[in-house]
Amino acid sequence: MKYTIAVIKGDGIGPEIVNEAMKALDAVGKRFSHSFEYRQVLMGGCALDATGEPLPEETVNICKSSDSVLLGAVGGPKWDTLPGDKRPEKGLLGIRSALGLYANLRPAVLFEPLRDACPLKPNIVSEGLDLLMVRELTGGIYFGERGRRSGKGGEEAYDTESYSAYEIERIGRTAFDVALKRKSRLTSIDKANVLESSRLWREVMHRLSGEYPQVEYEDMLVDNAAMQLVRNPGRFDVVVTSNMFGDILSDEASMITGSIGMLPSASIGVGSLGLYEPIHGSAPDIAGKDIANPLATILSAAMMLRYSFSLTDEANAIENAVYKALTNGYRTSDLASEGAKVVGTRKMGTVVAELI
Ligand code: IPM
Ligand code: MG
Repeated sequence: MKYTIAVIKGDGIGPEIVNEAMKALDAVGKRFSHSFEYRQVLMGGCALDATGEPLPEETVNICKSSDSVLLGAVGGPKWDTLPGDKRPEKGLLGIRSALGLYANLRPAVLFEPLRDACPLKPNIVSEGLDLLMVRELTGGIYFGERGRRSGKGGEEAYDTESYSAYEIERIGRTAFDVALKRKSRLTSIDKANVLESSRLWREVMHRLSGEYPQVEYEDMLVDNAAMQLVRNPGRFDVVVTSNMFGDILSDEASMITGSIGMLPSASIGVGSLGLYEPIHGSAPDIAGKDIANPLATILSAAMMLRYSFSLTDEANAIENAVYKALTNGYRTSDLASEGAKVVGTRKMGTVVAELI
């Protein structure tokens, strides 16, 4: 089969890590006789430099007319002082929204060969870690009304957390459905002891849980969840939460896997078009040095094969190759431990591609 993939390399380490994911896709293409046609488009800081917009219309159109989108990362100090609507991050939020990608799946798995890189004590992760975070992606405080005004204490700024029952039900169904394909356990994370939006969130989730009696459901407050993640991470299977809580908790979960450089993500909506990106940022401090970990992006490409193209064997081929590369001792410097073969971004990508 032939697939067209819009490729947004972005800023910082984005181009380096995306190149390695494309290497993996090409290796899959060769082995399984598929062809992947890449259409490179601009978004983020590089788009601002070239066009004055973080998300040019052409980028949205090309993404919409492709089978899927592969993304590196955006942002950097060069654009940090621009106003909110001209920041590179605005491009990222804009493309998620323009493509209707309301569900962000972030699997956090502690690979056996990386147990040493996990910062938690071995007895805490004795059960391992294999959780899937389902983060709402196009609503909540990231998209709510915001602004500045003058108040009693002088200048004020506000952002609004707001969720409709429709948005909650939509992400809830995604989470219950994926839970059914896993261990059928779902934790919904909110702050219902304080926030009205969380109380509606909880009501809708409870209603849904009645429709999914096979799924063992629980609520958890977000502060408690942050603690449970480092106290007993093995207790989680699928977790569903709002846009901001998911952003924060997924970085926490990623560290348990050894490095933030390990976590891939899939942003999906109604159709098969999805956007696949690592959960980490553009790491400008290490850009261009050939030391960034490309595995999160390579694993994101595997998620693309699985979720957008339904190519299960092909997705497994990438994931197995990553596992093997780690088993064979290859590590980028973020994961380095004693006796490891520490390699750069390109070499790690080549090792994985060869194992595919
Ligand atoms: C992520 C990132 C983004 C987010 C930023 C770069 C806007 O942190 O994908 O987790 O908050 O969604
Ligand atoms: Mg984040």
